[in-house]
Amino acid sequence: METVTTISDIRKAVAKAKSDGKTIGLVPTMGALHAGHLSLIEAAKTKCDFIVVSIFVNPTQFGPTEDLDKYPRDFETDQAMCKKTGADIIFAPTDKEMYPIQNLTWVTVEKITENLCGKSRPQHFRGVTTVCTKLFNIVQPDLAYFGQKDAQQAIVIQRMVADMNMPLEIVVCPIIREPDGLAMSSRNKYLTNDQRTDACLLYKALIECEKMVSNGQRNTNTIRTIMLDVLGRSKNITPQYISFVDCQTLKNIEVIESKALVAIAANLGKTRLIDNIIVDAGI
Ligand code: PAJ
Repeated sequence: METVTTISDIRKAVAKAKSDGKTIGLVPTMGALHAGHLSLIEAAKTKCDFIVVSIFVNPTQFGPTEDLDKYPRDFETDQAMCKKTGADIIFAPTDKEMYPIQNLTWVTVEKITENLCGKSRPQHFRGVTTVCTKLFNIVQPDLAYFGQKDAQQAIVIQRMVADMNMPLEIVVCPIIREPDGLAMSSRNKYLTNDQRTDACLLYKALIECEKMVSNGQRNTNTIRTIMLDVLGRSKNITPQYISFVDCQTLKNIEVIESKALVAIAANLGKTRLIDNIIVDAGI
């Protein structure tokens, strides 16, 4: 498995693979890889025969007070994990390679970026859609793989690709969890032992929600109150939002009538964690 750091080298490698008739899969990441990321590589292996993993901690998606500087970076371990999982090449550009001059051109998806994480992270999705557009233009994959873990991100990217007629397919893969239910995340590394123990309450609250919906509860305010009680079992958890939204428009739902995305964001100390499930009242 090769690692390249320049746009010209990844373009050459992809051009060669395409001329050999290979299907190109892209797995965009910010590194500090875990089993969640590797599941995207595994999924890519089922449909693609040349898999590019990009590792780039994208500065434009971090707010001024966020964790850009301390975001976990462990390139050698990432490389070993990619190799073992069967990636063909890592594209790991520097900030200068991706943003050589002040960036004046931004890709912005409206409306669906305003709710959920967009509320507290106003420029975040603009950074994500801009860097993903750049990665799609650089790598020109046939398919790109994203995790349901970042549900809003996946919906926003799918919408951007549809609206802009980008010639690739977006595949969204299920959330990979720790044995206690905590969704895997590079940011879990920030948690103290106590916070780590309590972090599984996010998932427990989502499971509680699922149970209530399957028992016929449809009122989101009632469900939210019970979910807040679950999170309230730990003094380490400060909920940011528990939202019930339409899976396409991401607009808030008062009463669950069919499918709904239930999304949680909460702080454990300075660490912000997110998780979600989809519930279906129609079943
Ligand atoms: P990052 O947080 O590194 O995540 C890379 C991809 O892995 C995303 O699509 C994310 O949803 C997926 N992922 C993370 N944890 C997962 C889990 N537990 N189960 C399944 N998939 C999981 O998301 C980003 O990077 C960036 O915003 C990026 C898209 C790379 C743009 O910079």
